Amino acid sequence: MYQQLPRPTIFAHRGSKNHAPENTLAAFKLALAQGAPAIELDVKLTADGEIVVFHDRTLDRTTGGTGRLQDQTLASLKALDAGFHFSPAFKGEPIPTLAEVFEAVGRQVFINIELTNYASPKDQLPDKVAELIIKFDLQDGVMFSSFNRYALQRAKQLLPAVPLGLLALPGIIGAPARGWLGRQWVAYQALHPALVDATPGLISKAHQRGHRVHVYTVNKREDMLRLFQHGVDGIFTDDPPLAFDVLRQMGK
Ligand code: G3P
Ligand code: MG
Repeated sequence: MYQQLPRPTIFAHRGSKNHAPENTLAAFKLALAQGAPAIELDVKLTADGEIVVFHDRTLDRTTGGTGRLQDQTLASLKALDAGFHFSPAFKGEPIPTLAEVFEAVGRQVFINIELTNYASPKDQLPDKVAELIIKFDLQDGVMFSSFNRYALQRAKQLLPAVPLGLLALPGIIGAPARGWLGRQWVAYQALHPALVDATPGLISKAHQRGHRVHVYTVNKREDMLRLFQHGVDGIFTDDPPLAFDVLRQMGK
């Protein structure tokens, strides 16, 4: 499926994040309804070793809970409301497991799974996610991304056919990942730079090496237009309808 993705690929970031509560089934289903060929989501392990879809280290910003997600069991996380903070219209929307997302949309949309075990970089997350991908037979419908090279290295060992995207932090701190060192860490298929670093030079160098460039997080019309004109392979956006509008305007 990676080979067949339309380019530039519009990845609905955490689902259609501007239009529904991030990283919920509602956001992923809306992204699909809006025509996104791909979604991005963040995965983490609960205290009892289950894989949930959630961005922050702590529960406070997007749910009614407090404290670190990794200290909670799946059962206690399932009791939380991950929709109300976005809008009362989404009251009761739960934190999904990765299995629930695979079940709901796994065969209909390409999924960029960001391995966000940044607090415990060598934990079991890649192993457990790989096991679930095999169980759902979704090797052809997903890719991994991470700022954590250990997670990507492990994912490559487990599922060598699944593409990898190396995320690079913005600015000077992300320079090693974007350069020679990043290519030694892991043989990735795609570089995922921040918007501020997605220059025409970076894009053309990556292309010369046979890498795709997927840029995060692109929410402004002028940035989308510029990146598409520079031949970027994909963007992560909170606003997929805006990206489709820009593509239409360009006649794509
Ligand atoms: O994968 C692109 C983007 O999701 C990386 O940053 O913090 O939104 O997960 P973040
Ligand atoms: Mg992410």
